[in-house]
Amino acid sequence: MTDQSTAPDDYPLQRDARCPMDPPPAYQSLRETDGLVRVRAWDGSEPWLVTRYDDVRAALADKRLSSDPRTPGFPHTQPTSAARQEIDLPFAFVEGPEHLIERRLLVKEFTARKAREARPAIQRIVDEAIDGMLAGTKPCDLYEALCLPVATHTIGELLGVPPADRPLLQTGSRRIGSRRVSKETGSQAFQDLNDYFEHLVDLRMREPGDDMVSRLLAAYAATDGLTRAKAVSTVQVLFFAGWGPSSYMIEFGVLAFLLHPDQLALLKADPSPGLVASAVEESLRYATVSVNGRQRGALEDLTLGGQLIRAGEGVLVQLDSANRDADTFPDPDTFDITRQAGRQLGFGYGPHRCIGADLSRVEMGVAYETLFRRIPDLRLVQPLDQLPFSTELTLYSLDELLVTW
Ligand code: HEM
Repeated sequence: MTDQSTAPDDYPLQRDARCPMDPPPAYQSLRETDGLVRVRAWDGSEPWLVTRYDDVRAALADKRLSSDPRTPGFPHTQPTSAARQEIDLPFAFVEGPEHLIERRLLVKEFTARKAREARPAIQRIVDEAIDGMLAGTKPCDLYEALCLPVATHTIGELLGVPPADRPLLQTGSRRIGSRRVSKETGSQAFQDLNDYFEHLVDLRMREPGDDMVSRLLAAYAATDGLTRAKAVSTVQVLFFAGWGPSSYMIEFGVLAFLLHPDQLALLKADPSPGLVASAVEESLRYATVSVNGRQRGALEDLTLGGQLIRAGEGVLVQLDSANRDADTFPDPDTFDITRQAGRQLGFGYGPHRCIGADLSRVEMGVAYETLFRRIPDLRLVQPLDQLPFSTELTLYSLDELLVTW
């Protein structure tokens, strides 16, 4: 329990190791009492923490709260976030027209229709991954065998990465996400992938094709102020914003099912598009992977959940807490794929809401339905308390998920 009469709690708040699928238990008492409290970040700053569903939505919709890390008082939750002040920022970290112009061009590539059209390709990627699992040895690491290839190959397909180069995306992401490689290897892999996307943009400038990068380049060329450098940074952001959350959401959704055999039985008995879609929303709600508060800096004084926030103060908006708010989701700590979870905030809300939401929903739905249809007796190898959960990536993640069948 956080007590504001004493020093603020350190951020991130502690999770309960006995319930690794649940957010820090203090969120519940905060939602029921203060709603907003100050926390202390690694750099000694004391941003506001927003925990209730209604306050989280209101904060994310409020244009007085900026995503630009150069905003005075912006809450840097880790040193890499602080470093962002010094570089030419990608569109996702700026506000106003600079953000809107690029976002409008991009959303055309990420409509619900385009996500539906991507389904056959995603089904093929999922089936190939499961073929590999079935042909390989047991036990098998589900993250490496299914979650990572589905996430990286789907974005690769979408960006028009030539098939021969796609393994690069998978090995590079694995190095960035894994705690088993050194920090240097992880940073090198990040740099290599950035270099690769720069090369891809140059390739499409020389030889345009019928792919997203070529279309974006044409749209950028026709828009004032959008340069090759901007296109490179946007393609990089799309890849880096996309592969992690998609891969971990596939993994945590599968894990939620394996931990709740009654819910898995429901899905197996009725793998209809309606129930699969509902299971995807419930996974996003119950196992929200964006556990690092969405970072915002106050441009003006404003009141949120009855609390005055002054210009120049930082705000951390907790999606995982909002998704467990009992006022919006009755019995919130229960994984129930029949509930109406469509209001879940796993993709954020407002002007920076996730662009890849519909695409990710298709990835998750195809992965869950196909995996449990093709390997109905899939089961965990290790008990829950031995799984290597981590929050190091600012996403909640599991480096490895051993399964057998
Ligand atoms: C299940 C998978 C995913 C989850 C849970 C997720 C989550 C999120 C969240 C919470 C935000 C809001 C950030 C904020 O308000 O500060 C966001 C933004 C974003 N996401 Fe995703 N994401 C997923 C998949 C993807 C994919 C596949 C792509 C692209 C291929 C993508 C691209 C983006 C971009 C570009 C933004 C920034 C949008 C903007 O600032 O206007 N995401 N995502």
